Amino acid sequence: MISLDIIQQLLQWQQAHNSKALYCVIGDPIKQSKSPLMLGRAFQQCFIDAIYGSFQVTPEQLPSFVQAVRDLGILGMNVTIPHKLHVMDLIDEIDADALALGAVNTVVNRNGRLIGYNTDGIGYVRSLKEEAVANIAGKQIVVVGAGGASRGIIYALLQENPSTIHVVNRTVARAEELVASLNSTVPLIAAGQDDLKQLCNQADIVINTTSVGMYPHIEETPIAGEWMKSGAVASDLIYNPLKTQFLLEAAQHGCVAHGGLGMFIYQGAFAFEYWTGKEAPVVAMREAVLAVLQ
Ligand code: ATR
Repeated sequence: MISLDIIQQLLQWQQAHNSKALYCVIGDPIKQSKSPLMLGRAFQQCFIDAIYGSFQVTPEQLPSFVQAVRDLGILGMNVTIPHKLHVMDLIDEIDADALALGAVNTVVNRNGRLIGYNTDGIGYVRSLKEEAVANIAGKQIVVVGAGGASRGIIYALLQENPSTIHVVNRTVARAEELVASLNSTVPLIAAGQDDLKQLCNQADIVINTTSVGMYPHIEETPIAGEWMKSGAVASDLIYNPLKTQFLLEAAQHGCVAHGGLGMFIYQGAFAFEYWTGKEAPVVAMREAVLAVLQ
């Protein structure tokens, strides 16, 4: 019954815009998502006659929704929490990197075949390279946190050939599991919080992937800025606030601060590029998101 409601919604939306190219984002909840605003602006900027909708889809509704996307010719879909894993069972093909990572956040509909990609990790790395450090090769990296977000960015960072990546987590066993699950020629080493200060002191790039410091707890930080080497890059996946306490402290200490907004922009940029084959208008996309965040 519930499934019918969401399919009805999708159908009505498709009928209202059936002369246009259709894209959407799904999640639960979805109200907070800035993707419609950002991708709507991207299509407009590139003069593409497309509509980008958002749908609150529960886990029970997901299978029928995905089937309807296939049947109705919706050209692309972004997938957010909590569907990034489960959607993999419902599509027709999964890109090798997304498969190795174990999560899909972007789906392309190619003539009724749904193909899944993951643009989170590559979006993060593109943002880091454009905004903070052009060349990651040979760098010593510390990643704090060992959840899904951490896994995605570590997978993408490994392709850049850094000299080492230390994964530091409150629960060391989780960092160890993550390290064991990723095949790599780059030394990938699990560590506990006790080692964090010393590791930060030697690192060229320190990345916070935990939620510590996110609004409303903006005074908290998992890493003291003074632990960092002056001139190193402090990077945070959080974009609300745009500059976390970690980044503020690190900047005061002579570090380059890299906030999480770029990752959000570039994961969307890659999705746009997979869907349209055109270069994403990242400046306009950032402007659209910043206008509502500030
Ligand atoms: P995500 O998929 O967004 O990465 P997650 O899987 O819940 O979310 O992972 C959150 C990460 O932040 C974990 O590494 C978590 O540490 P634990 O594995 O020890 O739980 C880390 N984290 C969350 N709150 C934290 C806190 N207050 N201090 C330190 N680490 C924290």
